[in-house]
Amino acid sequence: MSAAQSGAIPAVMPTYRRIDIAFEKGDGVYLYGVDGRRYLDFACGIAVTAFGHCHPYLVKALETQANKAWHVSNLHRIPEGERLAQRLVEATFADTVFFTNSGTEAIEGTIKLVRKYQSAVGKPERYRIITFEGAFHGRTLAALAAGGQEKYLEGFGPRVDGFDQLPSTATLKEVEAAIGPQTAGILIEPIQGEGGVRPFTPEFMRGLRALCDKHGLLLALDEIQTGMGRSGKLLAHEWSGVKPDVMAVAKALGNGYPVGAFMATGDAAQGMVPGTHGSTYGGNPLAMAIGNAVLDLMLAPGFLDRVQQIASHLRQSLAMLVDKNPDIFEEVRGQGLLLGLKCKPPNGDIAASFRKQGLLSAMAGDNVVRLLPPLIIEAEHVSEATQKIEAACADLRTTMKAEAARKAG
Ligand SMILES: Cc1ncc(COP(=O)(O)O)c(C=O)c1O
Repeated sequence: MSAAQSGAIPAVMPTYRRIDIAFEKGDGVYLYGVDGRRYLDFACGIAVTAFGHCHPYLVKALETQANKAWHVSNLHRIPEGERLAQRLVEATFADTVFFTNSGTEAIEGTIKLVRKYQSAVGKPERYRIITFEGAFHGRTLAALAAGGQEKYLEGFGPRVDGFDQLPSTATLKEVEAAIGPQTAGILIEPIQGEGGVRPFTPEFMRGLRALCDKHGLLLALDEIQTGMGRSGKLLAHEWSGVKPDVMAVAKALGNGYPVGAFMATGDAAQGMVPGTHGSTYGGNPLAMAIGNAVLDLMLAPGFLDRVQQIASHLRQSLAMLVDKNPDIFEEVRGQGLLLGLKCKPPNGDIAASFRKQGLLSAMAGDNVVRLLPPLIIEAEHVSEATQKIEAACADLRTTMKAEAARKAG
């Protein structure tokens, strides 16, 4: 009898190792469990709820649009989408935008655009994309192949062809050596999020730009996690001054309403003519109304300056915690409000210990715990988080000591 027939498989397909907490509601930077317990949300649904939960302005935008039209399909013009695209174009390097429902779809579109560009400029043999170890680009077959992580690819048949992965420590010389006659572009996260909050240096990013220009390649950025204010700028690549040809965003663009986008220069997008790409839901009126409302808040004068200020306060507080707890933490890394604590004990134990104190965080590769607070946190929330982390460290230390004593007999 199969697991399904015997009833052994849960009704929700068990592809996640879920934590046994269910939330009933959220309010600003806090989430409330069904048991009434309050959590300080420094995970943000993995870098999504930048304006916290139930932000009145966003709730109002959703309600207003919900009472007009939710969905009309892309067979017609969608004025709210045209407005959002225009605003994104004005605020970024891009000339044109395609809206998606998720980050993975935005990456899939990015990959298609890179290949189509080369075909449009008469080089259809160029379809391969250079990527970097430790990357995470999403869960479709192409996005998995781009990310190149064995644990996610295993058992899903032949890997989608067309990705050449280099170590994340590759030098510019090594990147250049990997460029061949079939190379179409380079795809990179300015800061690897899932990979352990590992930033690439501005020099490296500038070097990649130069290599792309030299060899006729497109520079594609995955800013799904780093983008939309999380780094303290609208997009993380602004810190290095490097402009991509195409970029994927998602997550905070909808603050929890599923919306993503891939955006490109006019030149890079020259192959994306009618019929080359589509989506039933992508960019529907409800998603676009929320996207516009998110931009109203994010582009308000001074907002991103405030994010930078509070981010440096949080970082300093975390650096002090690292100094005070060298048996628990190795370092703090990241940029803006995409911060990682490199841990000594297993990061799962640390995240669990944070949760025990009522602090939500997200794990990442390289034994890192990510802190991804809402961009609207105030100094009082930094203090609250710091206290909770201190308490978690003390608790962990007691547990570790008891464990060591037990082992010693
Ligand atoms: C950098 C990066 N790329 C792609 C994705 C995939 O996005 P989604 O889960 O919305 O499909 C994620 C999600 O965590 C991500 O962090």
